[in-house]
Amino acid sequence: MSAPMSASNPFLNFPYGSIQMECEAHDLIVEGEVPAGLNGTLYRAGPNQRFAPRGDYHLFAGDGMVHAFHIRDGKVDYRNRWVRTAKWNIEDKEGRAVINAMNPFDCDPAYSDFVLTDREGLANTATVWHGGRLLVMEEGHRPYEIDPVTLESIGSWDFRGKLQTAMTAHPKIDPDTGEMVFFAYMATGPFAADVMVHKVNAAGILTESIHIPTPYSSMVHDFVVTENYILLPIMPITGSLERAMEGGPPFAWEPDKGVHLGILPRHGGGTEDVRWVEMDLCFVFHFMNGFDRDGVITVDACQFDNAPLFPLPSGEASGRAQPFLHRWTIDLNAAEPRATSESIDEFESEFPQCDPRYAGRDYRHGWYASCDGELKSPLAENDNYYNVVGHFDHETGEVQRYSCGQAMTSEPIFVPAAADAAEGEGYLLAVVTSFETRTSSLYIFDALQLAAGPLARVHLSHRVPAGFHGGWRPAS
Ligand SMILES: [Fe+2]
Repeated sequence: MSAPMSASNPFLNFPYGSIQMECEAHDLIVEGEVPAGLNGTLYRAGPNQRFAPRGDYHLFAGDGMVHAFHIRDGKVDYRNRWVRTAKWNIEDKEGRAVINAMNPFDCDPAYSDFVLTDREGLANTATVWHGGRLLVMEEGHRPYEIDPVTLESIGSWDFRGKLQTAMTAHPKIDPDTGEMVFFAYMATGPFAADVMVHKVNAAGILTESIHIPTPYSSMVHDFVVTENYILLPIMPITGSLERAMEGGPPFAWEPDKGVHLGILPRHGGGTEDVRWVEMDLCFVFHFMNGFDRDGVITVDACQFDNAPLFPLPSGEASGRAQPFLHRWTIDLNAAEPRATSESIDEFESEFPQCDPRYAGRDYRHGWYASCDGELKSPLAENDNYYNVVGHFDHETGEVQRYSCGQAMTSEPIFVPAAADAAEGEGYLLAVVTSFETRTSSLYIFDALQLAAGPLARVHLSHRVPAGFHGGWRPAS
């Protein structure tokens, strides 16, 4: 008999709380019209805790569930599955939570070594389709492969033994070569001050791993890959075993350590070739895109003044922070380059996207999730759920927005209308959860006409819990 979830932890309740089912739904109800040319699968990944958790539950610690919207010829089918990680299988057998993934000291005695030895993780953060495999990622562990159609679990994937580290949830795929570049932080062990960059060719073969010592041990969520450079943002969410052993937070915001950008030449660059560039204090979870021209790197980032969600080393809260789109400029021709950052958008934004055919290239169109203040979140004072999808035009600076009203939007995913369509010509897909019906719908927009509202609303009769990231796999 499963125990009830805590009613007081917001991440175990609407809109984050888990759904306790796996299902298929065929030919979903469509309001409007699904574009005939939109064929493929939208995936959403997120935490969906299976059993009442041990200890203080953190959203990042939930068991991963993947949701798939299979779209073909105007019809949409849906399916969801938990990822059968090692933790999931053990707890399925036990019929209760025996592992606290965020705290090795809070596991059932029979599994006291699990957290420190597990390689499969939670598979709860993002998906990527690359080299003929659908991988579900969670930055602290290896990726996990699942079937792209049925979502059945295949197994933890280590690139045939070549991947000895974790894998970020934000790999980058080169639109011309199909190469996938990714990294792992704390690469050589818990709290290590280093990063490992990995390159995987279009066929899915891991071809190169580059070890990069960093100025301090840092939690690194996302990075930037341009045509000629790989940029690793070392920002001061620091990890410290000593601090943790003294009863402090293992991860904390330490502004005094400063921001250090490691810039690795992408082609032929090795450990010795990294240049470190500093900039004023800030924090970024996600980058919209970046590109380089004549030794000048441009980066667009949803930038915070300080790190939300993480305490100071003393354990005190670091204060609320809101992200806004900024453009960074790094002139590597300067004798001592320093990155500059300029705010370019008046609206709060997170979960940025670009047209994947322009990843790492000079580009015009970006999209993100935002808010209009009409959907209040109880998580913090003056906090809002994201209920707006936005388009940012880097050429004109214009912003187009659509508010979902009393409904929360996921990260919106851009899908090109066709391989040869112009930049930005395509669709924006978001999973939107109504606070009135408590059910979710897939909204499909014309990506350059957001203000006109969705072309189609595809309705589920249940809810996709608020999660993290998604991905797209075009129909073959
Ligand atoms: Fe992320």
